[in-house]
Amino acid sequence: MSRTPVIAGNWKMNLTSESSVALAQGVANYQGQPTSRKCCVFPALVHLSAVAEAVAGSAVSLGAQDCHEADGGAFTGEISAAMLKDVGVEVVLSGHSERRHIFCEDDSRVAAKSAAILEAGLDLMLCVGETLGEREAGNTFQVLDRQLGVLSDFGAFVERISVAYEPVWAIGTGQSATPEIAQNAHAHCRAVVEGILGGEAAASMPLLYGGSVNSSNAEELLAQEDVDGALVGGASLDIENFGPILDAVPNV
Ligand code: 13P
Repeated sequence: MSRTPVIAGNWKMNLTSESSVALAQGVANYQGQPTSRKCCVFPALVHLSAVAEAVAGSAVSLGAQDCHEADGGAFTGEISAAMLKDVGVEVVLSGHSERRHIFCEDDSRVAAKSAAILEAGLDLMLCVGETLGEREAGNTFQVLDRQLGVLSDFGAFVERISVAYEPVWAIGTGQSATPEIAQNAHAHCRAVVEGILGGEAAASMPLLYGGSVNSSNAEELLAQEDVDGALVGGASLDIENFGPILDAVPNV
């Protein structure tokens, strides 16, 4: 089964309103109107509305980096999935390593947020990945099995789910996983998805790689059989770097 490649830019806590809009317009122009690759950007929450306007009518989807799991209520400073949908968001990250490690979000929190995202009618990009210590201890697959376990409740939503494998040791370090390490982890993730949601879901679910993707390594990473896209941090912050990463997927 063929999977449409996805190239995504996670802008994290960077850029201004003005530079976010300019970058979004640059990405939209670069992306054009392809049928063979998807592109999405994840600006800071406060810039979502401005970026929504900038990508309106383009082939770039709008993503959000986080949301709260409740529908609404007394949660000062938080944003619900319905609020994100209301401003034009189509896809939301859950389980990003920075949320897990800096903000102490455990698997049950990730599961609750993921459920809220899907129940609001939004797409879910579930992020998973092991720390260096977990890899060195030989526990990579065990960690991935546990983190992917949240998918067991989402059988009704498989068409709206993608997974981003982002080894924590590769994020922001300039030390990307080798294509072999990425392929190995992705093949394992696909087997786990098959075990949880069945063969059809596993064959159709996009599995993105994230962690120090740049214009030099994107092509080789994306050439791996089970690597269906890239979730890019630092190199997504300007079109000079992000454009060539988009080009790593043929636009036909
Ligand atoms: P870098 O590409 O900066 O390593 O970040 C990856 C990431 O965390 C994307 O979500």
